[in-house]
Amino acid sequence: MSPLKWLWSYMGKRRFRLIAGLVLAAISSGTMFVNPMLSQRLIDDVIVPQNTEPLIRLLLMMFAVQIARLSLRYVMVILMELSSTDVMTDIRRRMYEVVQNQDYRFLNRVRTGNIMTRMTSDLDMIRHSVAWITYQFVDAVVLFASSFTFLMFVNWKLALCLTAVTPFILLLSRRFVKRIRPRFVLLRQKLTELSTRVTETIDGNRVVKAFAREPFEQERFEKHNAKYRDTSIENALISAKYQPVLEFLSQILAVVTLLVGGIFLIKGELTPGQYLSFSSLTWTLAAPLRMLGILLADLQRFHAAASMIMEVVNSEIGIVDKADSIQLIRPSGRVEFKNVSFDIDGAPILKDVSFKIEPGETVGILGSTGAGKTSLVNMLLRFYEPTTGEVLVDGVNVNRYTLSSLRRRVGLAMQDVFLFSDSVKGNIAYGRPQIDEESIRKRATQADADGFIQRMQDGYDTLVGERGVGLSGGQRQRISLARALAVKPAVLILDDTTSAVDSETEQYIQHQLRTLDFPCTKIIIAQRISSFRGANRILVMDKGRIVERGAHEELLANKGFYHHIWTLQNNAGMAAMEMGQETGFSPETELKQATI
Ligand code: CTP
Ligand code: MG
Repeated sequence: MSPLKWLWSYMGKRRFRLIAGLVLAAISSGTMFVNPMLSQRLIDDVIVPQNTEPLIRLLLMMFAVQIARLSLRYVMVILMELSSTDVMTDIRRRMYEVVQNQDYRFLNRVRTGNIMTRMTSDLDMIRHSVAWITYQFVDAVVLFASSFTFLMFVNWKLALCLTAVTPFILLLSRRFVKRIRPRFVLLRQKLTELSTRVTETIDGNRVVKAFAREPFEQERFEKHNAKYRDTSIENALISAKYQPVLEFLSQILAVVTLLVGGIFLIKGELTPGQYLSFSSLTWTLAAPLRMLGILLADLQRFHAAASMIMEVVNSEIGIVDKADSIQLIRPSGRVEFKNVSFDIDGAPILKDVSFKIEPGETVGILGSTGAGKTSLVNMLLRFYEPTTGEVLVDGVNVNRYTLSSLRRRVGLAMQDVFLFSDSVKGNIAYGRPQIDEESIRKRATQADADGFIQRMQDGYDTLVGERGVGLSGGQRQRISLARALAVKPAVLILDDTTSAVDSETEQYIQHQLRTLDFPCTKIIIAQRISSFRGANRILVMDKGRIVERGAHEELLANKGFYHHIWTLQNNAGMAAMEMGQETGFSPETELKQATI
């Protein structure tokens, strides 16, 4: 769909406001010739014959026309601003909704900086187009057409002489547009690259600082900045080449009026008043044509911006509620994976994963990094959908539940903890805003967060997140655990949630989780075997498969991968080397394992 068509269909009822605005604009520009017409009468009927009788009438009419046109313009501006700002707000809301509801794949593909440019400068371009490009276009066309018609009536010969220049202006404008169109798309791309760079270095400022890479980042930024500048300058140069010629051609109009009009005046074919009309309306023939070049270039910028926005707005939301979705209410917490395989862009992430967890059980998942643990639990919340196989909660495929009810019942403490710029309290209550203070404290206590929160300056009201106080990794993890517990989930998933807390704290949390005051199935992902204390079963994952499963003792007796890790974690160093040789693991994997 072309951007113009899309925008038109998007405007819906607001089209009427826009059209009303444009009609007013057309009336106001279409009556531009009235005052020169009246001045012509003023000269030919009042000044030349020295007859004051129609003077007052003419002056009053001129005044009335001017007032009427000003009022029209006032209403028009309001209508245009209202419709364009409304459309922009609407599109922005829709974009936000799409981005909000997109699955991870979309967010992996489109970077934050990119989305930000689309939601700010691209959208503003749309607003500008709706309000001003359309207005100026109508203005230019109507102004030209009405003045030309009027002048044809006054003296068709002179009018035709004037328009002899116009085809050249049009031709030149078209060539200009052809050259500038791809340039604007390029410029838009450079801006996105630039803003992506900026957001990335701000988001990743710790990494930049930690590696003392400021000069490198500065240089990288400078490169993008320079590229953007160069592209802007090149565009400006192209404009600079065409604009003076366009300007020159339109100046010729004034010369023609002066020359040909003068001759006509001397020959008596033109009255002084008519001559005045011509010279005061020459600009209404030249300006629209000059505007046309700029307008067409603006239209190209609109195209570039709109297609970026359309890509977001029209991108399909991958994972949505089905028409006949059911609510997941008070599930018992039975979880089952049936032959689940999952690919991302053809690369297998999970391969034929099957397991069952009964309500209330605790299951551990162990596996080296990249084994697919996070991907696996993400399927339970339908962040991803299996390529083949089924994920069931309480015996029903998760894709049958509404997303919101499913995600309310399955609590996830994510691997990369994200805290909002809000109070500690607000962060814990995020999933269940109506929760009371006492429960917040209870959940924080279960996550062993109460102690350090109490010691913070404003306790539970302390601001954390981007604008708040700094928190350690372990503190963030514990707040995130409290947040997951606060929704009293039927299935609780801890994705590496205790990796940054000390063993003592971990033991305390494990004890709390065993004695929760609500029934809950627990899935605990960890790299340390000690994190699985009290688990009914442990699944060991490697390269997307479950390679071992069973209770701790069974797995140890197996003398496989689990046993190997266990040995590494219990007697690091020499023992590890020996085990490596015994079980035939390569030194390379061993080194990797030894770090977990
Ligand atoms: N992957 C991917 N795109 C993502 C996330 C993951 O392609 N957005 C791939 C990675 O290449 C990885 C595999 O999926 O090899 C499994 O990733 P993940 O499930 O996140 O692995 P974990 O087992 O959770 O690893 P870790 O212990 O490091 O969290
Ligand atoms: Mg992970």
